[in-house]
Amino acid sequence: MTSWQELRDEAGRCTRCDLYRRATQTVFGEGRTGASIALVGEQPGDQEDKQGHPFVGPAGRILDRALDEAGIDRADVYVTNAVKHFKWTERGKRRIHQRPNGTEIRACGFWLEAELGVVRPRLVVLLGAVAGEAMFGSRYRVGEHKGKAEEASLGSWQGLVVGTIHPSAVLRGPDSEGRDRAMAGLVADLVAAWDVISSAFGDHDVPSTLLGVAVLGYPGQLVEIEAVALASS
Ligand code: URA
Repeated sequence: MTSWQELRDEAGRCTRCDLYRRATQTVFGEGRTGASIALVGEQPGDQEDKQGHPFVGPAGRILDRALDEAGIDRADVYVTNAVKHFKWTERGKRRIHQRPNGTEIRACGFWLEAELGVVRPRLVVLLGAVAGEAMFGSRYRVGEHKGKAEEASLGSWQGLVVGTIHPSAVLRGPDSEGRDRAMAGLVADLVAAWDVISSAFGDHDVPSTLLGVAVLGYPGQLVEIEAVALASS
């Protein structure tokens, strides 16, 4: 069986779509193989492309804050992206992020599938629409999946997924109240994902104060999530 390191090396030479031509490098996932939870973002941004690590730029800082508020140690999860090369367009001196298209998402699905196959998380948190599209196809809408635990599969990987917003959506909030609300929603979804794992598999302790945050953030959401967790335990 291919190891995580072999996959990462192979992905470093990927030419499955044209994005490799303008990117500095492949940004593969990072974290513990065997982690119960994997977080899947969209694609590396400008900083990630330069540094070669996922979620180390502005969106990464939001994600770190949300994980921190959710009481989750980033070292306990696996962090990756649906697309492994930075897609960008030039605006003056800046490189501006461009959404990957369906062909690029499908081409890179090869790596996500292989990655989930070796990391074998029990639950995947889909951060935003592109991650959702990589898992469920182009009809995926964040609003229809946000905060819900659902069964899913990708290649040989089978498990639970929880949809939520992309961390950069917090930065795009219209005002500080909107940004705070988006952040609270992201935190609640992360807490809920963690709780699914702990109630279904007994792996983790979730502080009761954090459960309170999730219940306040989304009335009714935890009941639904716990029902799925119990059904799959
Ligand atoms: N946005 C993402 O989706 N992933 C990253 O790694 C950085 C920004």
